[in-house]
Amino acid sequence: MATGDEARDDSPASEAVRLRVLIEQYSHAYHVLDELLVPDAEYDRLFGRLLEIEAKHPELVTPKSPTQRVGAEPIGELAEIRHAQAMLSLDNAFDEPSLAAFDKRVSDRLATAGIDAGVIEYVAEPKLDGAAVSLRYTDGELDFAATRGDGTTGEDVTHNVRTIGAVPLTLRGRNPPAVLEVRGEVYMPRDGFEKFNAMALERGEKTLVNPRNAASGSLRQLDPAMTAERPLAIFFYGTGETRGWQSPSTHAEVLKALRDFGFRVSPNWRVVSGVAGCMAYYAEIGERRNTLPYEIDGVVYKVNTLRWRTILGAASRAPRWAIAHKFPAQEELTTVEAIEFQVGRTGAVTPVARLAPVFVGGVTVSNATLHNIGELHRKDVRAGDTVIVRRAGDVIPEVVKVIEERRPAGTSIVELPERCPVCDSEVVRPEGEAVARCVGGLFCGAQRKQALRHFASRRAMDIEGLGEKLIEQLVDGGLIETPADLYDLTLEQLSGLERMGEKSAQNLLDALQRRKSTTLARFLHALGIREVGEATALALATGFADLDALRDADEERLQEVPDVGPVVAQHVRAFLQQPHNREVIDKLVEHGIHWPEAVTPELVESPFAGKTIVLTGTLSTMSRDEAKAKLQACGAKVTGSVSKKTDIVVAGDNAGSKLKRAQDLEIKVLDEVDFVEKLGELASG
Ligand code: IVH
Repeated sequence: MATGDEARDDSPASEAVRLRVLIEQYSHAYHVLDELLVPDAEYDRLFGRLLEIEAKHPELVTPKSPTQRVGAEPIGELAEIRHAQAMLSLDNAFDEPSLAAFDKRVSDRLATAGIDAGVIEYVAEPKLDGAAVSLRYTDGELDFAATRGDGTTGEDVTHNVRTIGAVPLTLRGRNPPAVLEVRGEVYMPRDGFEKFNAMALERGEKTLVNPRNAASGSLRQLDPAMTAERPLAIFFYGTGETRGWQSPSTHAEVLKALRDFGFRVSPNWRVVSGVAGCMAYYAEIGERRNTLPYEIDGVVYKVNTLRWRTILGAASRAPRWAIAHKFPAQEELTTVEAIEFQVGRTGAVTPVARLAPVFVGGVTVSNATLHNIGELHRKDVRAGDTVIVRRAGDVIPEVVKVIEERRPAGTSIVELPERCPVCDSEVVRPEGEAVARCVGGLFCGAQRKQALRHFASRRAMDIEGLGEKLIEQLVDGGLIETPADLYDLTLEQLSGLERMGEKSAQNLLDALQRRKSTTLARFLHALGIREVGEATALALATGFADLDALRDADEERLQEVPDVGPVVAQHVRAFLQQPHNREVIDKLVEHGIHWPEAVTPELVESPFAGKTIVLTGTLSTMSRDEAKAKLQACGAKVTGSVSKKTDIVVAGDNAGSKLKRAQDLEIKVLDEVDFVEKLGELASG
């Protein structure tokens, strides 16, 4: 290493040294400490400059230069490496009793050795779902990296591990140990996995099945340049053989020491006490599981006192001082019983796999979406296939892939049906579009039911008590066809239905009656025009004086409304010109559905007209939605978060961070009394 004095000369050699020190420092901060010391552009500039010097003076290139992480040539095959200390696996616990049994085994064994351990202290860590590696540093320099293999012998993956930014090529700090083996898990962060697959799809290349396979596959690539393109990351969680190192006395201190050496350690580890502490940690991490940027399949508890670990030792496969507490699996195997096509509100015909029920992601799953016909063909899922189903968090279950080796004889490729399975109308898939549709429109029973569900839904007409089952009964029983028919229903008809008492029938009629008073935006949204969601409905309602004006508007006029482009305009125009739709709308209005007459912003002398407003906290005189509607009626724009563009913040009770932010940005704040008063000005004026 150059001393300070030498580093200050201007020779390419010393500039290269200075650049490497800076680059290492920034890279360590970024990858290990999660800190951005300089903007990416500056980092790239330094890196580019170092490349330039090294190109001009090849004699200055060192194997440890940050430019050389991806320097190695592809190799013929992976060499074997025997581990100095076996890489063990972990025993699993799936519930509290099996965890308690583990804790008791630990206590009992320590007691046999004359140790009264009391409530045992564990270090709890997330259990990453990736590929285990062991890295050996000799005199502070990375010697080699190996996969776990069979635990005794692994494969040499040094060329690939070097490409991972968070792996130090040289240990930080003075006096490195003669030998330090560190162990960790290489993984692929979720976003990197998704981006990688999106790119692969675009290029027509093979996609990666899941982040775990992606990590182990990438690690075992023969060409490090390929690995470098894969977004891999690593967390370290322990040591293997060490020589010339004064090991600390607890695992917690080991993790801290690893970080000081420059290794990336999960920030989520914690010292916990006994089974109760473990369970609390498990619950907490379980809650956060789906918000973590990487996949974990459980947590690991490790006895914190290292001396006790030696006493506890290991069985053949796994240590007695640690256990993995697994989360319910998010992927399982099951078989496809049938592939059916569902018809949605807009006629979209979606393939769905009916599955033999399987417990996955904490629930029993018997259906999985296949998204669209293209996806179905890409995965080539067939009735009779054994498949991997995945259910992560609240995401709808999906088929990940088919296990082709298990495909029975006599299956066939599933084709898009030519006719709608519900109404027998034609199914069309326009050139270049992923989605196939039934052209039946409201003639199609499936679309009719979905349209009615949407009409009644909370963010549309908000008709309480009109759920999926009831709509099904009403449509199948021939009582209703269109939303307008809802208002002709009688108490007699309703209470005659199965599972429907007179009381609930009356409640439904009351709800229908009550919600006749609505807003134009809700009404437009409720109609279920394609591409017209809540926001667009609101824009349309604000852009036109009344429904008649909207009905007469041509596509050009429609596009004058903010955020309405040619596609939306076309859908709106087509819907409103369609005779059947016009008839339904007329009937709805005849039934008494009404909304406040529009007040165009220019006409109103409201203090809220044209303002951008944020509502926060609880109001005692009206709900958040009512307040929003009133403000919108005054020509205000109501948004969710406070920024410099916000004009006014209305703060009710228990307003929190948004109020604080408004004060920081010196934005005008109104309390409820002020707010209601100013709204009142409008009413009286
Ligand atoms: S400790 C002897 N800690 O889980 C102790 N392992 O099922 C062995 N893993 O092969 C490992 N996160 O690949 C440990 N925080 C963590 C871990 C972890 C993931 C993996 C590792 C190991 C497997 C055992």
